[in-house]
Amino acid sequence: MVKVGVIGTGLIADLAHLPGYQAAGAEVVAVADIVEPRVQAMQKKYGVAKAFTHYQDLLALPEIQAVSVAVPNYLHAPIVLDALRAGKDVLVEKPMALNLAEALTMEAEAARLGRVLMVGFNSRFRADVVKLRRLIQAGELGDLYFASTGYLRRRGYPSGWFTVKAESGGGPVVDIGIHVMDFTRYLVGSPLPVSVVAQVQQKFGACAVEEGVWESSDVRDGLRDGRVFDVEDFATAWIRFDTGLVMTLETAWTANLARDRVYSNLLGTKAGAAIDSYHPIHKQRSTAAVETVEVFTEVEGMVADLAVPYHANASHTAEIRHFLAVVEGRETPIITPRDGVVMQAILDGIYASADSGKEVAITL
Ligand SMILES: NC(=O)c1ccc[n+]([C@@H]2O[C@H](COP(=O)([O-])OP(=O)(O)OC[C@H]3O[C@@H](n4cnc5c(N)ncnc54)[C@H](O)[C@@H]3O)[C@@H](O)[C@H]2O)c1
Repeated sequence: MVKVGVIGTGLIADLAHLPGYQAAGAEVVAVADIVEPRVQAMQKKYGVAKAFTHYQDLLALPEIQAVSVAVPNYLHAPIVLDALRAGKDVLVEKPMALNLAEALTMEAEAARLGRVLMVGFNSRFRADVVKLRRLIQAGELGDLYFASTGYLRRRGYPSGWFTVKAESGGGPVVDIGIHVMDFTRYLVGSPLPVSVVAQVQQKFGACAVEEGVWESSDVRDGLRDGRVFDVEDFATAWIRFDTGLVMTLETAWTANLARDRVYSNLLGTKAGAAIDSYHPIHKQRSTAAVETVEVFTEVEGMVADLAVPYHANASHTAEIRHFLAVVEGRETPIITPRDGVVMQAILDGIYASADSGKEVAITL
């Protein structure tokens, strides 16, 4: 049984990491969070032996082999570096870091120390993504040349540090757009980005309080208390990869749309495919529904639509099972530090292009 620690016991630790380790049969030996009542509540809820308000105390425990780092984005790099140097394998939440320079340092340190470093791209473990990846690897779509992706919420903004650029690194691009960009890049064979054109916009931001856009009293109260909102709430991007494939992104925390959407449309020379399903994390653990990946092809010379069924799953739990298997040497990681670095380069490119109004080259 792998002994693990969880640093940061906020929303995602409670919804994914702590129950995920429990479901996978690992022992969570300690939790750490700067907010004492929070860490104590999580200690009690999950029956964890030790709780700390300084994560260094958790890292000092020799029996802990691996840690989850689930803290605000600006703390990913320093805490991950400390964890690696303390000899721990690490699962860090997405995004890997605040910028490319930090991500490269983390990648280099994990390699130097020979430690596992995985980024929490849980969408790679969604059953629809797994199913579509198998079809692609079997050659069913032919040569893939275009992908349009989106993660759009009609009303769905996070509270707290997420809207503060210095702490988050950005708005929906960093928070949710990254998931569809990552799983789509994974589906099309993990090409490297060469350039990006993007625009980011803030159309609601703090003004939403007056305009009645926010439904959550948490967010309204935070903004009334003078919380900073200096990130985008909508963005579009056009990303060119070294295989010639182009990926587009649209992402929003708030947009006047019919419904929330998480989608990826792929165009290949033999067939196209579409994933279009929204799985909110708080509902994932109870999903067992049969859903479908759509494939647009030809059968006997006539265009045909196929609905390929899959059982919806809890992607975070699958991610944590895989992380533990990698730590134990039973599986090869499907997410490498380079995947985190690539996404960070794309994020930096999106904001650089939005600032300059020009296409920005990405060199990795
Ligand atoms: N993969 C996903 O589906 C998903 C979903 C939500 C959030 N996330 C990511 O998870 C991370 C955390 O997000 P969240 O929604 O849980 O945020 P959150 O604000 O709910 O939780 C963060 C926790 O970190 C604690 N913290 C802050 N500084 C700390 C420190 N120095 N040491 C220890 N703990 C500290 C906070 O007190 C808080 O409890 C972010 O990187 C976010 O992008 C991923």
